[in-house]
Amino acid sequence: MSRTRFSERAPEFEAALATPFHHGVVDAVEAAIGEVAPGVAIEVGCGAGTLVDAWRTRGHRVIGVDATFEMCAATRVRAGVLAACADACRLPFAADSADVLASTFCLQIVPDPGAALREAARVLRPGGRCAIAIQAPDWTESGAFDLAARLGMVGGDCDHLVRIARVAPGSWRFSTEELRALFADSGLEDIVIVRVMAGVLVASATAP
Ligand SMILES: C[S@@+](CC[C@H](N)C(=O)[O-])C[C@H]1O[C@@H](n2cnc3c(N)ncnc32)[C@H](O)[C@@H]1O
Repeated sequence: MSRTRFSERAPEFEAALATPFHHGVVDAVEAAIGEVAPGVAIEVGCGAGTLVDAWRTRGHRVIGVDATFEMCAATRVRAGVLAACADACRLPFAADSADVLASTFCLQIVPDPGAALREAARVLRPGGRCAIAIQAPDWTESGAFDLAARLGMVGGDCDHLVRIARVAPGSWRFSTEELRALFADSGLEDIVIVRVMAGVLVASATAP
């Protein structure tokens, strides 16, 4: 788990929720998930609760999961929803118990991303929807600066975006083909991958 890397950064991730970049990513993930009747929605690697507010508006019962205690606390305090401190590869949920599972900018730092997607497939009910947003392999720090300028993001908001674009030691970058293969190996079906916000891949799929 990457707990130490993020334990100090909950305030930064919470502040970033208000940026146009965050809103664009949430909109893209929502569009990828599509229409799902209100049910149980799990956000993995939730940080300060990236998708929580949008999902509550849709009537979902939302549960966050994050490996970092401070991030779970930020989600609980900011958004008032339950957040479990757990690993993406060992989710504390029964099989077939969720209607939606999604994650933004977490899969690239999980040591075994295939195991995390198999775990997503396990907890989703048949027909449940999965969506993952992740950095595209060609998204550079200079690309992030350009995007921040286009979106009018300055100061700490710009720094946050550039840090997200940076390839952290030990993190993954998947091409569209590699991401599709990872999803297919997990058993998820109807895989669709789109590129949004100039440097973000959003992959979505349905549980069999
Ligand atoms: C780059 S942050 C993204 C946070 C948030 N999703 C966002 O888009 O702002 C990655 C998050 O994943 C969490 N994380 C890292 N490894 C994890 C793992 N193995 N299982 C669950 N969460 C993990 C970190 O604690 C951190 O909150």
